[in-house]
Amino acid sequence: MLKHDQIERSSILLLILTVIVVSIGGLVEITPLFRIEQTIEKVEGMRAYTPLELAGSKIYKREGCYGCHSQQVRVLRDEVERYGHYSLAAESMYDYPFQWGSKRTGPDLARVGGKYSDMWHTRHLINPRDVVPESIMPGYKFLSERDADISGINVDMEVLRKLGVPYTDEMIQNAVSDAMVQASADRDAEGLLRRYGKKVNVRDFDGNLDRVSEMDALVAYLQTLGTFVDFAKFDPATPKKIEIKK
Ligand code: HEC
Repeated sequence: MLKHDQIERSSILLLILTVIVVSIGGLVEITPLFRIEQTIEKVEGMRAYTPLELAGSKIYKREGCYGCHSQQVRVLRDEVERYGHYSLAAESMYDYPFQWGSKRTGPDLARVGGKYSDMWHTRHLINPRDVVPESIMPGYKFLSERDADISGINVDMEVLRKLGVPYTDEMIQNAVSDAMVQASADRDAEGLLRRYGKKVNVRDFDGNLDRVSEMDALVAYLQTLGTFVDFAKFDPATPKKIEIKK
């Protein structure tokens, strides 16, 4: 039997044993995360992004909005008073990659959905100084001048399905038309609402009916942030039983 002082006297032995102990601790913490669908508590209201919102989330990542904005309301009183209910793990379970972040040159966006009108967002993105005179955020005028790239969005959805986002065959087959429908105020949205739920925002987001622009997609995405879970009904004390997928 090794005595503790023997271990302490041999630096190599101490190092080897430390590595073993730390590895066991690491495995215990990390292994469950590979079964993510079992470790995240399910909450009511979470849904996958519609094709248009998904296209918007891709623009958000392409433009590096995360470089200045986080999407995670921390469990701290000042954050909750400023932004609303703290973020739940389930709220970003369909984000690949997640957008939590730690850099906040601008405010957290995890609950920005529904806070402003579409017109506010469009004007703000074109030139932030039009609505917030002291803003240092760059303008993204070109977003209203470019068509959203939705022709291949069904392929993105297929990939996301492999990662665990619950897109059905029907959603994938109708992806392109669903994206067109969501961005126009004058088309029949029945199929879209049946597939993604009645709460989906269907309207012309950028105020220009002629095209489905990148602005439409990005604003559609921003308007969903933090709106899926109904916190009037959410009770953290009695979490939903975790469903184990086999
Ligand atoms: C250089 C840093 C920077 C980048 C990059 C940036 N922002 Fe901002 N953003 C800010 C700052 C600072 C504010 C606060 C002033 C204002 O409202 O304009 C802000 C505010 C916002 C707001 C209003 C938030 C609120 O609650 O009032 C939204 C929405 C927003 N940004 C979206 C975006 C999007 C989308 C992108 C990417 C296309 C982006 N931002 C890129 C710095 C940035």
